Amino acid sequence: MPLTYGKYLKVPELLSLQEGLSSPPHHDEPLFIIIHQVYELWFKLALHEVDSAVAHLAQDRVGEATRLLRRVVEVQHLLISQVRILETMRPQDFLGFRYHLNPASGFQSVQFRELEFLLGLKDPAVCGRLVCEPEEADRLQRRLAAPSLTDAVDDLLVRRGFPREPVPATPRGGASEPEEWRLQALVRIYEDPEAHADLVALCEVLIEMDEGLALWRAHHVQMVERMIGAKRGTGGSEGVAYLRSTLPKRAFPDLWRVRSHLGQEPEQY
Ligand code: HEM
Repeated sequence: MPLTYGKYLKVPELLSLQEGLSSPPHHDEPLFIIIHQVYELWFKLALHEVDSAVAHLAQDRVGEATRLLRRVVEVQHLLISQVRILETMRPQDFLGFRYHLNPASGFQSVQFRELEFLLGLKDPAVCGRLVCEPEEADRLQRRLAAPSLTDAVDDLLVRRGFPREPVPATPRGGASEPEEWRLQALVRIYEDPEAHADLVALCEVLIEMDEGLALWRAHHVQMVERMIGAKRGTGGSEGVAYLRSTLPKRAFPDLWRVRSHLGQEPEQY
């Protein structure tokens, strides 16, 4: 038999993977399972694209890296808007099968953590708190040790002639800040966009990704509050209060900081 759509995409296998735990089956459990599985598939693609972007940056292929990261931004738009589909579920519907999930939680999404680590948001403590399979724990450890997108961008900036040297944080000779060189490099890049067109395009897609992640966190916590109020999470956290504490996380904080420094005289930094 020639190759078919179903065989190539393994559709029968895919459709056999939605096994609910509620008995009798709760109407909304398929929604809950499918939406999480779809997230994991998009996380897989996002990791694939960001991995490639890191490799392209290491070879100074900035345009190609930027193109792939644009794709990730489009995926993020989808991830944010999908939260709305979950919001068609009422709190009492969710309660109809929620207790079956204990103690599993989105907190244990290994690919979500991989994505955070790959962008540069590395928190080794997460590895200790995350209950997962040994193979997944190994993957996470490898991500922790591997260069992140932040590292790849830093190395690129150095190769482009922005010296990675400690510089005084204030014009009047304040304490040296190890990361201050990056902020200064970004100021120069943004102040002269024509001379650094490819770097500006890269920086803009990076901040868009960071914004996408922040918007997802915000929409997720809002949906969670709507669903479970002040109840604790199935993963054992305080729930909404914990999720709110993650809202300020930024993978590229200097891209946000640089905005405050544009339009000033260089000696004022
Ligand atoms: C009814 C729907 C949902 C509820 C009530 C919910 C609730 C929660 C809660 C309470 C937490 C905090 C950890 C805990 O104690 O469990 C959490 C974390 C998380 N959830 Fe959800 N969630 C829902 C849907 C989703 C979906 C569809 C995803 C997509 C993958 C997701 C991904 C995550 C991630 C990645 C975290 C960890 C966030 C972090 O630590 O920064 N959640 N969720």
